[in-house]
Amino acid sequence: MPETILVERAGRVAILTVNRPDKLNALNDQVREDMLAALAGIEGDAGVGVVVVTGAGEKSFIAGADIAEFAGRTPFDQRHAMRSPRIFDIMSAFPKPVIAMINGFCLGGGCELALSCDLRIASEKARFGQPEIKLGLIPGGGGTQRLPRLVGTGHALRLILTGDMIDAAEAKAIGLVELVVPHEELRAKTLELAQKIAGMSPLTVKVAKEAVRASEKMSLEEGITYERDLFCLCFSTADKEEGVKAFLDKRPAQWQGR
Ligand code: COA
Repeated sequence: MPETILVERAGRVAILTVNRPDKLNALNDQVREDMLAALAGIEGDAGVGVVVVTGAGEKSFIAGADIAEFAGRTPFDQRHAMRSPRIFDIMSAFPKPVIAMINGFCLGGGCELALSCDLRIASEKARFGQPEIKLGLIPGGGGTQRLPRLVGTGHALRLILTGDMIDAAEAKAIGLVELVVPHEELRAKTLELAQKIAGMSPLTVKVAKEAVRASEKMSLEEGITYERDLFCLCFSTADKEEGVKAFLDKRPAQWQGR
């Protein structure tokens, strides 16, 4: 059997590629399991600062959950398939930034996976949608919760209730992706972005992600207090001393990650 997740390294960036191009990289049990294992391997690897997730082949990022697995499934089977830990939650809480490099169809669970990432960069050829309604289903990978938070209730409902696909330009216009680039430049532009973030202090990047992610769970007042505490925590690090000193010395900072 070919590996369902390919892992490559480009400097301090790890690239995870879902490798089922013949099925448009649909997420089956095996892919989910292998993705969790790949992420677990990267989590403690100090040599990796940023993770990029993409799909194999020219056509698709991830075309959703593997629909073939749904046929004949009972609610108990499905509940088992959706047991924790789930890739969506692991990615959103991952201690390193995760970037979705969206190279084609980004549908259903694929769109939800992209929503769980910290940044989304798409090829002009990418197409987005939550087509579950056409299967008599609703999004089950966090789409009803993360999509409205990113694009607003109206756009989320339009996508979820119609199952319609939108192109990359529209996805950018509604805030579903942050960047859209020519297809042939996708990898280079993604790596440029990833390397830039991976070149910052890993400790500070981790804390910054944690602070922003907290905004999804906290009231504004709680979040502002939490931010102040994390900001003050940064004053305990060697990297804060180095960052400030480097600015004053007019030289690039040399991060130590502590
Ligand atoms: N689950 C399982 N298999 C899938 C899949 C999915 N989500 N999406 C695509 N595939 C498979 C197709 O069945 C086909 O397999 P086959 O060659 O063995 O028949 C192969 O991938 C290629 O897909 P195909 O439909 O032939 O490509 P297309 O270019 O004509 O259409 C899509 C592309 C994305 C429009 C179409 O594949 C589609 O609608 N996929 C389902 C999307 C979806 O509903 N996702 C949410 C699931 S909850």
